[in-house]
Amino acid sequence: MANNLTFTMIKPDAMADGYMGKIIAQIQAAGFAFNALKMTRLSKAQAEAFYVVHAARPFYGELVDFMSSGPILAAVLEKENAVAEFRTLIGATNPAEAAEGTVRKLYARNIGENAIHGSDSDENAAIEAAFFFSGLERA
Ligand code: RTP
Ligand code: MG
Repeated sequence: MANNLTFTMIKPDAMADGYMGKIIAQIQAAGFAFNALKMTRLSKAQAEAFYVVHAARPFYGELVDFMSSGPILAAVLEKENAVAEFRTLIGATNPAEAAEGTVRKLYARNIGENAIHGSDSDENAAIEAAFFFSGLERA
């Protein structure tokens, strides 16, 4: 069952650019079911905690500022092989290198402001889902 779940956020750039609805529709059209969904805004401390694994990277400060700059849409998604399938759907980190038709190719601004997050492992999907959602908020 664990490999059927992933966690995503529509990032502040795509929210501000008005792509929330189109991205939700693309996620559903790709066969993912929503297990949890919420719109919220991360504080700087929450963004620092979520991305703590990147704390030593040169772009960490920029990433934290960006991710706390506006509303995000957080969701837990279900599909067989969800983590890998979802990363294929969203495309490469840098939209300039993302495949045609992927969420980042269609909607990202640049490598930092890249429209959407997708968990990189089953373990991190579970950690990230628990960061945002209580048991009561899960379907
Ligand atoms: P994500 O975690 O958001 O799904 O993205 P990812 O796995 O494709 O990329 P990751 O290496 O985990 O990086 C996390 C986020 O940091 C920002 N970033 N900026 N300026 C840069 O060179 C740079 N590199 C990464 C992006 O927002 C990236 O999604
Ligand atoms: Mg990542």
